[in-house]
Amino acid sequence: MEFVSNIFRSSLGKKYVMAVSGFVMFLFVIGHLAGNLQIFLGPEAINKYGHFLQSNPELIWPARLFLLLMLVLHIWAAIRLSAENKSARPVGYADWKPAGSTYASRTMLMSGIIIFVFVIYHLLHFTLQNQAVNFVSDPQLANFRNLEDPAKRHDIFTMMVAGFNNIWVSAFYILGMALLCLHLSHGAGAMFQSIGWKNQAYGPILDKAARIVAGLIFLGYISIPIAVLCGYGSRELEARKAGRIGAEPGITVPVLK
Ligand code: HEM
Repeated sequence: MEFVSNIFRSSLGKKYVMAVSGFVMFLFVIGHLAGNLQIFLGPEAINKYGHFLQSNPELIWPARLFLLLMLVLHIWAAIRLSAENKSARPVGYADWKPAGSTYASRTMLMSGIIIFVFVIYHLLHFTLQNQAVNFVSDPQLANFRNLEDPAKRHDIFTMMVAGFNNIWVSAFYILGMALLCLHLSHGAGAMFQSIGWKNQAYGPILDKAARIVAGLIFLGYISIPIAVLCGYGSRELEARKAGRIGAEPGITVPVLK
C-alpha cells in the first residue's frame, strides 16, 4: 500500500503514472485508427465492425472505464507535475530563450487541453450522436441515430461520410488530430525518458521514431475526412437519399442498369 502511495506522491512516481497512462491511450489511438480505416473497405466492413463492438457490452464497458481511469490519471499527473515545476521556480527566468526544447514539448499542456476538448466534441458527435453538434442539414441524414444499413445495423459508414461532408467539422477534426500528433511526438519520447530507456545512443533514435509514428498516425486519421471531402462515399450517400439503400439486406449500393 505504501508503495502505491509513494508512486502517487513522488515526482518520479507521477512521471511513471503519466508514462503508463499515456502509453495505454497511445495503444487505443492506434487500435481506433485501425478500426476507423476500415471505412476504406466499404460500408459492410465498417458497419460490421461497429456492430461487433456495440453488441459486446461486456467487452466495451470495461475497456471504456479503464480508458477513462487512464485519462483521469494522465490529467491529474500533468496538473500536479506542472504545479510542482512552477513552485520549484516561482519567478520565471528574466530573459528566457528556449534552448534544447522543442515546440511540441513547450506546448504539451495546451495541446493536451485542446485534445481533451476535441475528444468531448467527438464523443458527442459520433458516440452519443447528438444532432445539435453534427451540423448536417439534410433531414434524411441529420439524425445519426436513425441511420440503419440494410442488415439493420447502425450505419457508421453513412454517419462518417455525412459528418465529414461538412468542411468545418472536418477542419476541426484535422486541427484536433494535428495537435494529437504534436502531443504524441513529444509524449512518446518523454515516456521513454521516464522509464529510463533514453541514453546518449538511443535517445535521438527513440525521439525520431516517436516523431515518425506520430506523423503516420496523423496521416492515417486525416485520410478519412480528406477522402470524404474529395468525394469518397458520396455514391452510397446519394443512393441512400434516393431510397435505393435498404431494399435488400446485404446490398448497399444497387447496380444501376
Ligand atoms: C478521423 C478521425 C476519427 C474518426 C472517423 C473516429 C470515429 C469514431 C466513431 C465512429 C466512434 C463511435 C464508435 C461507436 O460508438 O460505435 C468513435 C468513438 C471514439 N473515438 Fe473516435 N474517431 C476519430 C478520431 C479519434 C481520435 C483522434 C481520438 C482520440 C484522441 C478518438 C477517440 C474516441 C473515443 C474515446 C471514442 C469512444 C469509444 C467508445 O467508448 O465507444 N477518436 N470514434
